[in-house]
Amino acid sequence: MKKKPHLGGAMVIALAVLVGASATAQAQDTAENAIKYRQTIMKTLGGHLGAIAAIAKGEVSVSDHAARHAAAIASITEMMPDIFAENTGPDSGVKTRATAAIWQETDKFQQVIAVAQAEANKLVEVASSGDAGAIGAQLGALGKNGCGACHTGFRSN
Ligand code: HEC
Repeated sequence: MKKKPHLGGAMVIALAVLVGASATAQAQDTAENAIKYRQTIMKTLGGHLGAIAAIAKGEVSVSDHAARHAAAIASITEMMPDIFAENTGPDSGVKTRATAAIWQETDKFQQVIAVAQAEANKLVEVASSGDAGAIGAQLGALGKNGCGACHTGFRSN
């Protein structure tokens, strides 16, 4: 029987370096890639929000997942400042619902991100309480003051 070649520690490190290097060399923050990435991030956010809402409504009994969805939501809001590069607006030639206001009303936009982060952090606080009513109320606040506030004006229909 043929012995499988064993990957030595040095080899694994060499491979990891190689993969890392090529990922860096190939990473193309083209408008297309960056917009696709942003939309993926937003979809993920919507997924976690829908999941924790189902828990708050008592549709599923995995209430211990609430804190993890809340943590994921908070983590994603921390990524928001990085996903609106200058070249990813409505003039990019790529299909996007991001509006020009993002790059025109930058102070207001940063403020909306900060509010979304604050509401998400409050969600993290209440999520571990297991109080479905409190979680539901905070989901409403996040949805209105975070998601909704940004989608009004900074996202087109
Ligand atoms: C700071 C602004 C901002 C905040 C806060 C924000 N969004 Fe968005 N969202 C956007 C923009 C801009 C787009 C359009 C992205 C694009 O098309 O390039 C978007 C798109 C989306 C989409 C559609 C993704 C797709 O293309 O399929 C979903 C779903 C979404 N957001 C969910 C959420 C949820 C849920 C929250 C709150 C927990 C949230 N967003 C908070 C700005 C925001």
